[in-house]
Amino acid sequence: MTAIRYELASDQILTLTIDMPGQSANTMNGEFRNALSEVVGKAKAELDNIRGVILTSGKKTFFAGGDLNELHKVTREDAQAFEAMVNALKADMRALETSGKPVVAAINGAALGGGLELALACHHRIAIDNDSIQLGLPEVTLGLLPGGGGTQRLPRMIGLEAAFPFLMEGKKVNPKAALKAGIIDELADSAEDMLAKAREFIDANPKCQQPWDQKGFKLPGGAPHHPAMAQKLAIAPAMLKQKTKGCYPASERILSAAVEGAQVDFDNGSLIETRYFAELVIGQVAKNMTNTFWFQLNALNSGGSRPTGYAKENVKKVGILGAGMMGAGIAYATATRGVEVVLKDVSVENAEKGKHYSEQLLAKKVSRGRMTTENKADILARIRPTDSVSDLAGCDLIIEAVFEDSDLKAKVTRETESALVENGIFASNTSTIPITQLAEASARPENFIGLHFFSPVDKMQLVEIIVGAKTSDETLARAFDYVQQIGKIPIVVNDSRGFFTSRVFGTFVNEGISMLAEGIHPSSIENAGLFAGMPVGPLAISDEVSLTLMQHIRAQSKKDTEASGGTWSPHPAEAVIDQMVDRQGRKGKAAGAGFYDYPANGKKHLWPELEHLFVDKAKAASIELQDLKDRILFIQAIETVRCLEEGVLKTVADANIGSIFGIGFAAWTGGAIQFINQYGVRAFTERASTLAARYGERFAPPKLLVEKAEANAIFS
Ligand code: NAI
Repeated sequence: MTAIRYELASDQILTLTIDMPGQSANTMNGEFRNALSEVVGKAKAELDNIRGVILTSGKKTFFAGGDLNELHKVTREDAQAFEAMVNALKADMRALETSGKPVVAAINGAALGGGLELALACHHRIAIDNDSIQLGLPEVTLGLLPGGGGTQRLPRMIGLEAAFPFLMEGKKVNPKAALKAGIIDELADSAEDMLAKAREFIDANPKCQQPWDQKGFKLPGGAPHHPAMAQKLAIAPAMLKQKTKGCYPASERILSAAVEGAQVDFDNGSLIETRYFAELVIGQVAKNMTNTFWFQLNALNSGGSRPTGYAKENVKKVGILGAGMMGAGIAYATATRGVEVVLKDVSVENAEKGKHYSEQLLAKKVSRGRMTTENKADILARIRPTDSVSDLAGCDLIIEAVFEDSDLKAKVTRETESALVENGIFASNTSTIPITQLAEASARPENFIGLHFFSPVDKMQLVEIIVGAKTSDETLARAFDYVQQIGKIPIVVNDSRGFFTSRVFGTFVNEGISMLAEGIHPSSIENAGLFAGMPVGPLAISDEVSLTLMQHIRAQSKKDTEASGGTWSPHPAEAVIDQMVDRQGRKGKAAGAGFYDYPANGKKHLWPELEHLFVDKAKAASIELQDLKDRILFIQAIETVRCLEEGVLKTVADANIGSIFGIGFAAWTGGAIQFINQYGVRAFTERASTLAARYGERFAPPKLLVEKAEANAIFS
């Protein structure tokens, strides 16, 4: 069975149906390349008998894109051969494009990456009008670039500027939006309608040539050297960095490929693109990102740390206690996925306020044309605001998001858990209190679990599931299913103060603040954070969290440590936080003043007094930015190793995914543990020891790290 069916009909229309045997989706692997070369050769040989070509798929999706297993294995030594292979594939696509005969892409399902690039190489694109179909070039999200002609054809089709969000941010659209953007040409109601329309196009256009192959072709929207365009291009990298928070390092290469390619003819542009593509494919960033965002994320989404042996179950009715910031967000995330929600607060007025939050988010969607008013009304009708426990009757799951107070949490647990269906789950969204401790209030601790959402819930994809000492496997499996049901990414961790994400996040902010204690200039600290790839500097994020909350968490941890017979070793950041709160009265952003000033009518800026209070000029002048950057990345990676060592984390995938999606650990690293692997475990351990000698024992390599280094092993 061949990967591409070749069917020449009596009306002389050739249909090429990509249907790779033994695969659920079509991918651009060796088998596909051979099949394409074969069918193109055959078509060329009988071109006189062919009036036009329809390219479509025999799978549910049109084409999934490049074969990441294959790309992941390409090494520096293979670079030349890889370039030759890519250019040969592109030559086959080009042979159809320049055959003179009309070639139509009949897009029956998702066309991503190489799949969309195949369609772009056709003269006409028709897609089935179905909102669940996605079209886009997501290569940038894996540290790659669209190397199948995407950086050349898309700008020639819709203009450089319009192509940027697709090429450099990985924007995906449904067929309607793709039509509006000029990426496809027609919508069809069904597969039959699509094929009929393809034939109509071929009948009406017996000869076809791409605009860029015609004499006098001009790039839509202006050529790169056009003064207005040149100005836009000059600021594009900086704007992009700000917009994507530095998450997509490949975007710079994509920009170069698109801009340089736009200044030469198509075929030379295509060669330029391949050169940049190969450079990225063999680079470490693409390896890191593919490893984590593809292999590990897929592993996690297809089960990860979910116990096996329990059938997948969906919840139908969820109760949420507390309609504040988090409760309102969880209600929105749950109701938009078709689940009934009872949103309970101390008063109906509070609960209504929480529901209003969903109304605002949905109204925005409607005004942007992303949702119908009927859809909005359906979702809102699913959220029932209340102050009554009796409305919770029949819930499969109750999530409490009341104030962070263990007595209050115990009280609401006792009050409401009997409203659950038999075997229903009670979950806490606590950010700091150990789940095992909270479960003591429950009559069914085996059905008690932590579901730690992140703020803002509608945007943050991660949910950290925390397993208490008595939580049953079945409860974990069902909590995992709920997180997936609402379209979020579940990581599973064992109970510990701060769990995984808050614990590692704490090391990041404390490291930044301790630099201030050492006399380092606050703007150098913030820059180091951004330079390390964190979305926000440590001082700015401390203000967001609130310095008083940090004091509160520390006091609680100290109390618990001492109660369990341990000795509390103060962190150098503590004195700075106390000075800010107790002596300067600066409690953070919500209070209007922290490390930053928040003028009513202006942009926030670092508080100038920090310089007099903390900065040591000699120290500030001698500091190395690389050291600051390393401290920020290393302290988080070391804490992550401790979480693995202590069994708080069970898998490297949970660690990598959790660190990126929950903490904002630099995406280009592939996560906190992948960062160590790619740095080299031994080299990392040595550098950690150097940092420990210079800055304190908190950098001392944990036992697990030393063992790995000695065994010359990596974390897997
Ligand atoms: P919030 O202060 O915005 O909301 C708490 C809500 O609980 C209020 O509306 C309050 O009226 C309500 N409430 C109090 N007693 C209640 C009762 N007996 N029954 C029903 N509702 C009651 O607090 P926020 O920020 O939403 O936090 C809630 C929980 O989520 C806390 O445990 C917090 O630690 C945790 N969390 C917070 C995150 C954040 O970024 N704010 C992130 C992750 C977890």
